[in-house]
Amino acid sequence: MDQSLEELRVTALAQIAGVGDEASLEAVRVQYLGRAGKISAASEAMKSLPKEDKPRIGKLLNEVRGAVSGALDAAKAALLAKADQAAFAGVDGSLPGTGLPQGSLHPLTQLQERAIQIFRRMGFALADGPDIETEFHCFDALNTPADHPARNEQDTFYFGDGRLLRTHTSSVQVRTMEKVAPPVRIIAPGAAYRRDEIDATHLAQFTQMEGLYVDENVSVADLKGTLEFFFRELLGKDAQFRFRPHFFPFTEPSYEVDIKTSALGSADRWLEIAGCGMVDPAVFEAINTRRGDRAFDPEKVTGFAFGFGLDRLAMILSRVPDIRYFTDNDQRFLAQF
Ligand code: DAH
Repeated sequence: MDQSLEELRVTALAQIAGVGDEASLEAVRVQYLGRAGKISAASEAMKSLPKEDKPRIGKLLNEVRGAVSGALDAAKAALLAKADQAAFAGVDGSLPGTGLPQGSLHPLTQLQERAIQIFRRMGFALADGPDIETEFHCFDALNTPADHPARNEQDTFYFGDGRLLRTHTSSVQVRTMEKVAPPVRIIAPGAAYRRDEIDATHLAQFTQMEGLYVDENVSVADLKGTLEFFFRELLGKDAQFRFRPHFFPFTEPSYEVDIKTSALGSADRWLEIAGCGMVDPAVFEAINTRRGDRAFDPEKVTGFAFGFGLDRLAMILSRVPDIRYFTDNDQRFLAQF
């Protein structure tokens, strides 16, 4: 048996050496190592050997099996390497790669993210509401009566069922107070819509950020401190502010905020940047009626609200001369941010 095993080794290795493709190699493997293969047969034959021969023959058999299986592995690796070489023939590995273009966040999104981060540090949570709103959430609850010019069909996009595209994110104030009780401290960034004539500084859709803070003893000082801190963090410590008395239906008193800051190129002139004020008790009462409780009792809680547009800020900060670039989706524009 020793001799037949030696012969088996020699033929197997010769066969393997002569194989030129993977399929034939697999056939050879089955022929020797398969369940009905020659090596299995040899190990079967071993059972009938005299006891004293078994250890020696067994050892030899193991050697032959190891040699054949090693040669098969080596031959397979060699075939794969050859296939790789063929696949890459003619490819110059020293040429520079083409690289994949990397996307980036839209300048408006970048600004919005920065703004959110600053308000988060002051404990404001993110709130959300639908772009398609009811008149109640956009106007009535915000103390804006039916004859208010903001509700004019010429100024707003109405749907046949009376709903409309929200003209400001202030509707999220209402949505939030319907659901939660004081203390409320939220910001709500999002789209707002108006029937504006479209030009370099106006779009029918723009982006706002709303804020609302309701608790016991919230004062105008809190409002001023919060907004001044926010805009200084966003635009630079040198910013100066002016709170000008103004009118909004949903706040009393109301202010417009002007800012002077080098970051906006307005170090020597005032730039109007936000609207704000103390939540009008009429708004709290509209919410209470809707909720059916007194969670926003104006005798117990006060609040401030504010809203500002992000588009003009982003335009100044990113030196974008025309607001329409923000929505054109022109790759040459977007790739710059
Ligand atoms: N909603 C106003 C607008 O669209 C902005 C605004 C002013 C929001 C005063 C407020 C506020 O929350 O208190 O022009």
